[in-house]
Amino acid sequence: MSKLNFYEIGWYLDEAQCPCDIHLADYIEAQGIRDRSIFHFGTGEHHIVGIRSHEAKTGNLVLGITASPREHEFYEKLVIERPEIGWNYKVFFGDIYQLRAPLLPEFDVLSLFHVGEFRTEKNDSYGALTDEAMVRLLIGRLRGLRQVIFYSGSYAFDVAQGIADKLVAEGVLEPVGSFKSLRIFRAR
Ligand SMILES: C[S@@+](CC[C@H](N)C(=O)[O-])C[C@H]1O[C@@H](n2cnc3c(N)ncnc32)[C@H](O)[C@@H]1O
Repeated sequence: MSKLNFYEIGWYLDEAQCPCDIHLADYIEAQGIRDRSIFHFGTGEHHIVGIRSHEAKTGNLVLGITASPREHEFYEKLVIERPEIGWNYKVFFGDIYQLRAPLLPEFDVLSLFHVGEFRTEKNDSYGALTDEAMVRLLIGRLRGLRQVIFYSGSYAFDVAQGIADKLVAEGVLEPVGSFKSLRIFRAR
């Protein structure tokens, strides 16, 4: 039986190489997004999205997914040391390409920065969702602000852009604009 396509390292915060999570926190604060629910694909071991959301007193609820055991361990340590963060920031371990819609709550904002970066034939070996199917599944869980955010600095941004273009052509998404490295869409 094939193994889960998990993320073997932990990602530390590196603004020069990958500023997307910092830009998301900046965007949330600049737009005054408060008391909303946010799905975040790829927490990093730094967990900056959840930590800044808490420290800026946004009232937002963030659900992060990580495929990295190390990053999950950092989360465990974080909420053990700072349980106040655990109220509004939850992280679960798993492959985003194995999501099941009935197991998910509804979200106002989806940050899908790593579309196309990690999905390989290893995911195929256990019948995982494609990038497009995963994005469609998550769009089906939107409510309220109904925002979908991609990261233009991703090395696989062409994959995200291709999916976004298709969904715009279908009338599922409409472009809203940009913020720093982020490309923002709204689901109709
Ligand atoms: C390069 S790191 C970036 C982390 C963070 N977003 C940042 O920019 O600093 C990629 C992230 O995607 C997550 N990831 C990779 N493949 C995944 C998958 N199949 N399902 C869920 N998360 C995954 C990793 O656990 C990691 O958090």
